[in-house]
Amino acid sequence: MGPPLRLSTSRALHLPAPRSQASSSSSSSWAKVLSTTQSALRGGADASRRESRWVASSPLRTFGRRRDFAGIARSVATTTTISRSDIITADPKNNVTDNIFQKLGVNLHHRKDHPLGIIKGAIFQYFEESAPGKFKLFEDLYPVVTTKQNFDELLIPADHISRSDNDTYYVNSETVLRCHTSAHQAELLREKHDNFLVIGDVYRRDTIDATHYPVFHQMEGVKIFDPSEWEAAGMSEVEFVERDLKQTLEGLAKRLFGDVECRWVDAYFPFTDPSIELEIFFNGEWLEVLGCGVMQQKILDENYGEGKKAWAFGLGIERLAMILFDIPDIRLFWSGDERFLKQFKAGDLRTKFKSFSKFPPCNKDVSFWISDDFTENNLCETIRGIAGDIVEEVKLIDEFTNPKKGKTSHCYRIVYRSMERSLTDEEINSVQDDVRR
Ligand code: PHE
Repeated sequence: MGPPLRLSTSRALHLPAPRSQASSSSSSSWAKVLSTTQSALRGGADASRRESRWVASSPLRTFGRRRDFAGIARSVATTTTISRSDIITADPKNNVTDNIFQKLGVNLHHRKDHPLGIIKGAIFQYFEESAPGKFKLFEDLYPVVTTKQNFDELLIPADHISRSDNDTYYVNSETVLRCHTSAHQAELLREKHDNFLVIGDVYRRDTIDATHYPVFHQMEGVKIFDPSEWEAAGMSEVEFVERDLKQTLEGLAKRLFGDVECRWVDAYFPFTDPSIELEIFFNGEWLEVLGCGVMQQKILDENYGEGKKAWAFGLGIERLAMILFDIPDIRLFWSGDERFLKQFKAGDLRTKFKSFSKFPPCNKDVSFWISDDFTENNLCETIRGIAGDIVEEVKLIDEFTNPKKGKTSHCYRIVYRSMERSLTDEEINSVQDDVRR
């Protein structure tokens, strides 16, 4: 894919940021909201790629079954400025790269004819039709958040894997690039929003393959219920909320995918209880499409007020778009190539992407002794830093431990392939030389 345009200074996001506002569904739904949460930098903090990031028992992120998914820079119409020095700092905890910094403020989800914008539009329209004027859409919340927003307020345990700097991009020890849109739940509850959707770019360190990219987009939804509602239905509160959640999300799945079969599986998220995941039967297989659950009571009580009940869900937009539109590689979302972009039209969910051509891959292997602090995420970040989006996949193909020396070597295969053109031998060899170094 063509490299996204860089976030130039003139395009930088400006601090300080205004308070959050929503584009209320009753007003113009697609009006761009000039808002952010309070800026973390001023001191004020996700199919589905979740591959069990939230599953406490599974520290292994790399080869998990559940992983989803999932530029043309445009001006950022907010008054927020993010300058490189705000994000890439000398702080010992800082692990944000230039590649990642360049993605801030691109906001692919604002493009109406882009697959991500189309999915956003369809989801919002679904909620708008089922409850006119009720759901507020927040689509410009500031992606730089505090660890409090991203983790603590969601009751994510102190030792949870997602907090590690191998998984999350830290600006400094208290500030991160949000790793899920759930980071905004608590503050929106404190602002007394009771039905809302949040869409935004989220950032996670990860390995490289066709469904993973360190930046992707999520949509979060929250709905609050009053005791009068479950009392009128003669149901227990959890039963009532869970029924509404399931009906709502099955309806959404059918809106997007047609009359698909749906099933629910148990899940674990620290911020919901019970937690469940929705799977749909599509093109002959069961696919996980989102995670959700009944909001932990403590989150609701402490931020909104007592006596209520709520559900929350979160879904990966790239994952949905890849399934729906048959998009084979997550890098395509960032492509500026007209042959990709021209295939999609606002409001049209029936497009099936036609590869303009499958360019040949080029495999190159690298082997090296690993040190104690070696991680695959770090390796992949380094490779992406050098090769950019011409890397399609990095996979471990051999591992060897020398018992005498107690040292382990890894051999990785790097698959290079551009989505847009044939790569030349010289180009790949020169990139590969840099990678070897
Ligand atoms: N934040 C979760 C994730 O990124 C998804 C989720 C949102 C689950 C809300 C439950 C409720 O994986």
